[in-house]
Amino acid sequence: MPTLQQPKTALREDPTRPAALLMREVTKTYDGAVTALDRVSLQVPRGSFLAVMGPSGSGKSTLLHCAAGLDSPTGGEVYIGGTAIGPLNETKRTMLRRDRIGFVFQSYNLLPSLTVEENITLPLRLSGASADRRWLGELVKRAGLGRMLRLRPGDLSAGEQQRAAIARALAGRPEVVFADEPTGALGPEAADEVLGLLRELVDEFAQTVVMVTHDPNAAAHAHATAVMAGGRIDRYFARPTAAELARSLVRQGAP
Ligand SMILES: Nc1ncnc2c1ncn2[C@@H]1O[C@H](COP(=O)(O)OP(=O)(O)O)[C@@H](O)[C@H]1O
Ligand SMILES: [Mg+2]
Repeated sequence: MPTLQQPKTALREDPTRPAALLMREVTKTYDGAVTALDRVSLQVPRGSFLAVMGPSGSGKSTLLHCAAGLDSPTGGEVYIGGTAIGPLNETKRTMLRRDRIGFVFQSYNLLPSLTVEENITLPLRLSGASADRRWLGELVKRAGLGRMLRLRPGDLSAGEQQRAAIARALAGRPEVVFADEPTGALGPEAADEVLGLLRELVDEFAQTVVMVTHDPNAAAHAHATAVMAGGRIDRYFARPTAAELARSLVRQGAP
């Protein structure tokens, strides 16, 4: 059973088996005034699924962007699979994002002129990596896209498009997949399928997912939930139910 490190406790690191994501005392300030992240420490083991919740402005997007090397922290350090992002130059950082990190967005971001299959394999072609046909076949099967590979994204339902985006994000077996409100544009049924797919890929193939969500029902699919407030991880739940998360957010004054 994967465990996630509680915040504010010492981070115990095993150098022989680095965490998929490690953030140590990460701070991000804007113009020296707004503190979007305030000494956040977080360890996400390989093969685990973390949800990040919290009210608007609490620092969720900043956390995701700093964790994924899209934004540079003002202080602290971020490691992806044991590699510190901070010291990398722009080229190496771009390569790390391309080869070792997957992204899933609320709006799918599939390319409309490519087929579903071309969309899924695009990151591999861009990085020049040889496609692992068995893995791709497994992904397509799990995502229920077997009969849609020749179609364009516009021919798919919203949920199918997001499942294709997940297959694309996982095609290169990245160290971590970051998902920003992946079910924000989906109805409850399609959302459940998308979350079930993410959870299945975590549980059965030891993939690692960090997902920002406003929805306690979505977060309940994860192994653990970090609730942010004022740039810090305010609360941390291991295996919470949707009802527990909803109660916690009400107490916190979230919408
Ligand atoms: N580019 C920016 N410039 C200045 N302040 C920013 C910028 N991005 C975010 N912030 C501020 O940082 C805080 C955290 O924002 P954000 O990470 O977007 O929160 P969330 O995703 O939880 O809504 C907020 O106070 C926000 O106004
Ligand atoms: Mg945000």
